[in-house]
Amino acid sequence: MTDTSLAGRVAYVTGAARGQGRSHCVRLARAGADIVALDACAPVAEANGYAPATPDDLAETVALVEAEGRKVLAREVDVRDADGQRRLVADAVEQFGRLDIVVANAGVLNWGRLWEISAQQWQDILDINLTGVFNTVQAVVPAMIAAGNGGSIITVSSAAGVKAVPGCAHYCASKFGVVGLTNALAVELGEFGIRVNSIHPYGTDTPMGNDVSMYQLLQDHPHYIHSFSPGALPTESLIAPDDISDIVVWLAGDASSLLTAAQIPAEKGYLKI
Ligand SMILES: NC(=O)c1ccc[n+]([C@@H]2O[C@H](COP(=O)([O-])OP(=O)(O)OC[C@H]3O[C@@H](n4cnc5c(N)ncnc54)[C@H](O)[C@@H]3O)[C@@H](O)[C@H]2O)c1
Repeated sequence: MTDTSLAGRVAYVTGAARGQGRSHCVRLARAGADIVALDACAPVAEANGYAPATPDDLAETVALVEAEGRKVLAREVDVRDADGQRRLVADAVEQFGRLDIVVANAGVLNWGRLWEISAQQWQDILDINLTGVFNTVQAVVPAMIAAGNGGSIITVSSAAGVKAVPGCAHYCASKFGVVGLTNALAVELGEFGIRVNSIHPYGTDTPMGNDVSMYQLLQDHPHYIHSFSPGALPTESLIAPDDISDIVVWLAGDASSLLTAAQIPAEKGYLKI
């Protein structure tokens, strides 16, 4: 049986201040990994209908990781800041000596029909959700190859990175883009023993998942509701971030060693309905 411990490994998590990112930090730490936690901790996209994360949120993540008995290097960096990510990776390698696991999780969501959103709205979503992941990859991969330990990169796409969702075509475009990036990168990194897989959550219980600004869109276009169907499993409530972290911890570790270039659903069967 495969050892599921992540002891001695180091994980770099973006969007770590709250929500799914915080949960992944805590669960990876519980499995034994030291954590590098990055978040903007500031307003990042003007069209967002939900509150931004704060420095206090990131401090809470740090406290929770430390309570698991692991070390954490946390920094306020926007994923659009390629140099900032490179500096953080350099400091992490200096402090921890290696980098094994990456969770490219930072992302934003806002609403509007594609021909009605502003150019800025499009740009913010693409810059954060797709170029942000590119910046993460550029920062982490050389360090992972140099360490020579292989590794696991987990990109956070969405059910909307597999299925068309009306009212957020810009978000869909960014999350479908993450899939292409993930699979091509997996082919490039196979020879280094680095696996790359994407996960695809449906409505998850975080500030983004509880964003009520989408209700206006559904009021204006009630027929869009069909695209937000229940899953095969009961979906009265949003998915707990901890349940997404089960998948992340599994993908991070050796128990998923056969998987690369795979799209892992985390959506209770919603994509089949
Ligand atoms: N919540 C859902 O229903 C849901 C469903 C599918 C996919 N997702 C995806 O899951 C990921 C995590 O989202 P969440 O639900 O935890 O949302 P969230 O808003 O609670 O957390 C996202 C975190 O990312 C950070 N972030 C956003 N833009 C950033 C930037 N430019 N630089 C650095 N940090 C930035 C935020 O500050 C925040 O702490 C996102 O990629 C999101 O698209 C969420």
